Amino acid sequence: MQRPFVIALDGPAASGKGTLARRMSAHYGLAHLDTGMLYRGVAWLILEAGGDPADDAAAHAAARGFSLNAVAGADIRTGPVGAAASVVAAKPAVRAALLDFQRRFAERPPNAAAGAVLDGRDIGTVVCPGADVKFFVSASPEVRANRRWLELRRTRPGLEEVTVYKELLERDARDAERADAPMAAAGDAELLDTTHLSIDAAFAAARRVIDGALRRCGLE
Ligand code: CDP
Repeated sequence: MQRPFVIALDGPAASGKGTLARRMSAHYGLAHLDTGMLYRGVAWLILEAGGDPADDAAAHAAARGFSLNAVAGADIRTGPVGAAASVVAAKPAVRAALLDFQRRFAERPPNAAAGAVLDGRDIGTVVCPGADVKFFVSASPEVRANRRWLELRRTRPGLEEVTVYKELLERDARDAERADAPMAAAGDAELLDTTHLSIDAAFAAARRVIDGALRRCGLE
């Protein structure tokens, strides 16, 4: 059996990587793992129990044996959960506890899919350094804050755009400056700046890269 075809998609919050990952998954028939859900899930479990995400013991306990089933149906896409996720994500023991699940997903994609697309912060550098295609997706902080604000204000009508902007910069800094697996572009990643690109245009650019890689692997 051919080994799975793996796409690594990294980048900061609201850069467009989640939407691109879903488009890639649907178009190429690949399994998709949003790895941010794992960190958000761990953070949500701690907050739900009234714990402190900065507390090592609480974070390690929540990450050990973590399963997405434990947070099924929970509202983990909120601002506070995102902020807490970046706090727990800086802890090496938390990252180590979540690593095997991510690697297994890429090595043996569910439902016998021919491959997988994983999006996150360290997929091309740490989780799947041998991925067939790597992207680092970015956009200006102003554009990313606007996208996230438009998304969040559906459920939080009073939310100010400037608040989202500040939270985003704080999270970017925490993710890029942590010692263990910081958010970074892999040396062999394609850089995709979506500041002035529609989703269709960004996806078309990504497809050109992926189609080239599929041809090289003899899969097209
Ligand atoms: O969707 P959004 O880009 O806002 O964030 P996310 O992908 O859901 O990730 C939430 C947080 O989890 C990030 O700010 C990171 O701190 C952490 N994370 C990480 O450290 N490594 C990953 N591979 C994915 C997420």
